[in-house]
Amino acid sequence: MFSENMKDDIERVLLCEEDIQKIVTDLGKKISEDYKGKNLVLVSVLKGSVVFMADLMRAIDIPCSIDFMVVSSYGSGTSSSGVVKIIKDLDLNLDGLDLLIVEDILDTGRTLASLIEILKMRNPSSVKICTFLDKPDRRIADIEADYIGAKVPDEFVVGYGLDYDERFRNLPYVGVVKPEVYGA
Ligand code: IMP
Ligand code: MG
Repeated sequence: MFSENMKDDIERVLLCEEDIQKIVTDLGKKISEDYKGKNLVLVSVLKGSVVFMADLMRAIDIPCSIDFMVVSSYGSGTSSSGVVKIIKDLDLNLDGLDLLIVEDILDTGRTLASLIEILKMRNPSSVKICTFLDKPDRRIADIEADYIGAKVPDEFVVGYGLDYDERFRNLPYVGVVKPEVYGA
């Protein structure tokens, strides 16, 4: 059962709003330096990365374009199915572009591993990954992010775009949900 006030369902805050702001500013600076003179396109994998994407693109001060993709790998539960399907494809032609995939969290890595194979076939100049959160203990696929906001322990986290059963995406910080919320 969910509480009426979202925040009452949070057991612990992992990253507060200030932490997140610093993470995003630092990533934006680094990406702006690394991609100077290149054809940067930020590709957000919806829906989880929408909040991170919106902040990150404004922390980047070089020209870039953006695009969005919807990929399905999860149902409404908390574990990966390993099956990846493109629900909404990109609008841009990637030929000659420097692609930076913007993700909310790199967990087993199965979603991104399959996605990257598909995108590489489209002839981009380069493909890299920027993930807001990384859960390295859970990795199954052979994949690592090039830019990582923060590492988190093997716990299910919500907020700042990340959901549990489509809830908590609008929480402005990252936290762990109380066990009783998952119960029954
Ligand atoms: P992967 O294929 O296991 O790496 O799954 C990655 C996707 O699973 C992420 O983009 C999230 O949408 C979802 N996910 C994985 N771990 C969490 C979590 O702790 N909270 C919320 N969503 C998660
Ligand atoms: Mg996601």
